[in-house]
Amino acid sequence: AKDPVRVLVTGAAGQIGYALVPMIARGVMLGPDQPVILHMLDIEPAAEALNGVKMELIDAAFPLLRGVVATTDVAEACKGVNIAVMVGGFPRKEGMERKDVMSKNVSIYKAQASALEQHAAPDCKVLVVANPANTNALILKEFAPSIPEKNITCLTRLDHNRALGQISERLNVHVGEVKNVIIWGNHSSTQYPDVNHASVITTNGAEKSVKDAIANDDWLKTEFITTVQQRGAAIIKARKLSSALSAASAACDHIRDWVLGTPKGTWVSMGVYSDGSYGIQPGIIYSFPVTCEKGQWSIVQGLKVDEFSREKMDATAKELMEEKSLAYSCLNR
Ligand code: NAI
Repeated sequence: AKDPVRVLVTGAAGQIGYALVPMIARGVMLGPDQPVILHMLDIEPAAEALNGVKMELIDAAFPLLRGVVATTDVAEACKGVNIAVMVGGFPRKEGMERKDVMSKNVSIYKAQASALEQHAAPDCKVLVVANPANTNALILKEFAPSIPEKNITCLTRLDHNRALGQISERLNVHVGEVKNVIIWGNHSSTQYPDVNHASVITTNGAEKSVKDAIANDDWLKTEFITTVQQRGAAIIKARKLSSALSAASAACDHIRDWVLGTPKGTWVSMGVYSDGSYGIQPGIIYSFPVTCEKGQWSIVQGLKVDEFSREKMDATAKELMEEKSLAYSCLNR
């Protein structure tokens, strides 16, 4: 039998946490034969709620769940973890400036970087979900220099899955028959959902490019892009709460593919530290198309980038550079 893997979820008493921990305990993240020990962190005001989640995990009697640590102590939460899913953060409240939210979150991520560095397993894989996700991940990387930079990523898989969903709805095919969309850049409204290399299996079993299948370039260049970019806001409007089940599911997809590998011929989107691929400056966490094998991701190389895409890829990179300098000005204040 496999040894259990320790999975940290921060912000575990929050709404994504509540959707995410049962998925992990059921094997959705690491597979149906991989036992897990859940480490759940939240802050003092949420301690009682966090304990309630722990009680429910016990009551659910998940066979794969070999232990639960529920704590408000960061060091204890990080101890020996192999996977860290960072969902905890300070939400934007009415009347708060972008800078204020940024300031709160970058100081959280700076502190948690040190805790992970000191207490997590040396090969710990980190996924940052909390917003501003790319910039929080960057700060975590900068303040945890002993964690390999390839181990620090942020979530854009939800945006990727939303893009697949929109194509599947439009073409009336199963979502599993659509692949290789790309989310470039920031997990924000400047992200660029790109279908230039995406394909779909048609009813006769043949593979076709999404562009040929949809044959409405105008829709792809306008409504499709804005729908994906603004989907988060549309969910808030409908639910009066932000996306939680889809975010939790995407977090599981992200870690599962990273650890267990992407299917042959398929790539996914992950926010990773730029190595300069596609002319995106190093020094930011940017979403790229990646394939994964043996627990390592690599950026898909050699995709053709047209002028329309270039402009959008650069605009979202520019926003990330601005977020980075804002983050540093908050830390230096
Ligand atoms: P929530 O407010 O329900 O939960 C956040 C939890 O974090 C709360 O329980 C809070 O007490 C906890 N927390 C606050 N500071 C903490 C700290 N220093 N250490 C540990 N825990 C702390 O929020 P929700 O809906 O679960 O969303 C969480 C984050 O995920 C938000 O930042 C949200 O913007 C982001 N998000 C990101 C998505 C993505 O695709 N990257 C998609 C959806 C949400």
